[in-house]
Amino acid sequence: MSSASNIELAGLELSGNFPFMNAPGSINGAGEEGFRLEFMDYVRAPGTIAMVGSVTIPYKEGNIAKYGGPVYQHIESTGATYNSMGLPNLGIERYEQILPELAVIAHDHDKKLGVSLAPISDNPGAEWNQMIERVMEKGVDIIELNAGCPNVYNENNEPKTVLSLVPEALGVALEQVQSRFGQHLTSPIFGVKLSPAPVSDFRNPEFNEKIIQKQAEAINYLGLYGYVAYANTFGGQVPIDENNIELPLSVPGGGGGVSGPIVADVMNDQTEVFMSYLNEDIDVVASGGISSGEELNKRLSIDSRVKIGSSVTALWKAPSIGAGATKIAEEYSRIAG
Ligand SMILES: Cc1cc2nc3c(=O)[nH]c(=O)nc-3n(C[C@H](O)[C@H](O)[C@H](O)COP(=O)(O)O)c2cc1C
Repeated sequence: MSSASNIELAGLELSGNFPFMNAPGSINGAGEEGFRLEFMDYVRAPGTIAMVGSVTIPYKEGNIAKYGGPVYQHIESTGATYNSMGLPNLGIERYEQILPELAVIAHDHDKKLGVSLAPISDNPGAEWNQMIERVMEKGVDIIELNAGCPNVYNENNEPKTVLSLVPEALGVALEQVQSRFGQHLTSPIFGVKLSPAPVSDFRNPEFNEKIIQKQAEAINYLGLYGYVAYANTFGGQVPIDENNIELPLSVPGGGGGVSGPIVADVMNDQTEVFMSYLNEDIDVVASGGISSGEELNKRLSIDSRVKIGSSVTALWKAPSIGAGATKIAEEYSRIAG
């Protein structure tokens, strides 16, 4: 049954009154059975969009297969999540086959279906275009272009450059997509997921505003992307516990992208800066440290263009993904009424 809504993302009307979605990476994985169980658990829970992926062109087992574990740590006492999952996913070919069915299931549960696409080669624009071709007519409502995964390694075991931290290259890749699909960019709607400006110390975070300004300018210049998901994880840092003891991940260097409640304040600050440069007609999906109804409400209060919030950490640290979404929904409804 469809419920009335006043939530809209880039012109797409969303159902219900809980402005939240699962962030990419929360429903994914190299095994289809586990992926489907997570998807079903989440679609039954409160939320506006079911986001699957990030998907890559090849099937990817992820870093656990290559380097062993652990590739994920959540330190409850500091609120820091570290991950170096390395995009484990079924690959574009299998996604292409199952997306129509996932779309029907999402729609039956009053949710839109989103798919996040992650390029891993040195030609991200061409890779996005290849993947978009394959998911375009498959019932998907939202295509999110992931320009920010820090956990992909080259053949020398060095982390690859994060596209959204090189705004000129980001602009070139997005322009390639726009020149191929420009006429379609409102149906499905297109979003771009960016990385935040790097920080080295979350207790005393300093960041370079210039890079954020350049990211916004790249999006503004193109003008056709409906929303920006702001933002992905802070690039590779070795996990530390509350006593500063290192708990390295199994990947080269031992580090992973940082997210979770520890990044909430700096992400609030960066989102404000980002939005001060972003064109008025581009919406934002907030990401980074939203693990409570209160934090969700705070992020939405930054600006009316922040339409929904998203999280991985809040869903993964709960007993199940659906339970995590339900908890935030209950907290949010007590605050927002
Ligand atoms: C385990 C894990 C896997 C992730 N995988 C992806 C991914 O595949 N694509 C993507 O765009 N972001 C990915 N992210 C980033 C999240 O979508 C999100 O932006 C980030 O974790 C900040 O939110 P949080 O503080 O609620 O975790 C991942 C994060 C985590 C923790």
